[in-house]
Amino acid sequence: MKRLFSGMQPTGSPHIGNYLGAIENWIKLQDEYDALFCIVDLHSLTIDYDPAQVQERIYEMAAVLIAAGLEAPEKCSLFVQSHVKEHAELAWLLSTVTPISELYRMTQFKSKSDTHKKNINAGLLTYPVLQTADIALYKGEVVPVGEDQVQHIELARIICRKFNNRYGEILPEPQEKVSPAKRIMGLDGNAKMSKSLNNQIDVIEEPEAIWEKLRVAMTDPARQRRKDPGNPFVCNIHTLHTYFSTDEQIEWVREGCTTAGIGCFECKRVLADNIDQRFAPIREKARELLKDKTELKRILDAGAKRASEIAAETMDEVYRAMGLR
Ligand code: AMP
Ligand code: TRP
Repeated sequence: MKRLFSGMQPTGSPHIGNYLGAIENWIKLQDEYDALFCIVDLHSLTIDYDPAQVQERIYEMAAVLIAAGLEAPEKCSLFVQSHVKEHAELAWLLSTVTPISELYRMTQFKSKSDTHKKNINAGLLTYPVLQTADIALYKGEVVPVGEDQVQHIELARIICRKFNNRYGEILPEPQEKVSPAKRIMGLDGNAKMSKSLNNQIDVIEEPEAIWEKLRVAMTDPARQRRKDPGNPFVCNIHTLHTYFSTDEQIEWVREGCTTAGIGCFECKRVLADNIDQRFAPIREKARELLKDKTELKRILDAGAKRASEIAAETMDEVYRAMGLR
């Protein structure tokens, strides 16, 4: 089986964008690949954060992933990045073959430098080198991600290629596998759903909170509506219906919206109920797992153990090739 790797930052509770853009895909792929999934705590240090919350967030993410259907450690490995020290080690080695000009080109570096003007740290710039190390450490060939990460995977290929040219064919060039839901928009309707923009609905959100957020969510932007009156396809609520509602309900929305037969309130109410119904079992199971963390600890320990074994082998090979052993 081909090796697959992906990661998610524990910067907050996983939201609908993470779920549709990554988690759902991960669950499907765990059957088809030798899969390693990583909670990338080291990456999450590159923007302002509260050290007192890190552990809680890691466990919350692990709980949602397991509750949603990742079968670790049986079908895949789930682990925390900083538990396998080789990630930071390989990132350093790879930084010596990474052109700094490539790092400055990254869209994510530019946008995060913009939104976090008071904290443009070196880690924010070298972030894609650590991401490359994550994948290369396990000789990952396939990397499922949302659209926003494609540029980082392209750079990972460049870095692996440069390494191989200089030191021999050791690191496979990874290939991204973009999820069908590649870019879920936030509730503001004009930027991708993201924890840092606070425009998200979390997977384990309570029903009342889902409704409160949806109630005031943007529908179709007025500018679009003037250009294209009555077209439900420009409305983010309609888009969300396509992920959470039945075919009949989607048709009801389409028909009702174009003929003004239903109002936004009604349309949102149905969506809120569907989101709640879809996530209720995950929410319950995740809460259960978080009550007593023994099971989560067992899963993460088993993941780190397996990951460490593979990582140690790769590092040995890399150190030798680079002349350090
Ligand atoms: P992050 O939360 O930035 O660590 O992202 C974890 C995974 O979720 C990555 O594969 C992202 O591409 C994906 N992702 C995050 N936000 C969205 C979104 N709004 N739509 C689709 N995928 C997303
Ligand atoms: N940078 C990714 C994100 O924000 C998370 C990540 C870290 C990742 N390392 C990775 C994704 C390796 C895929 C492979 O979404």
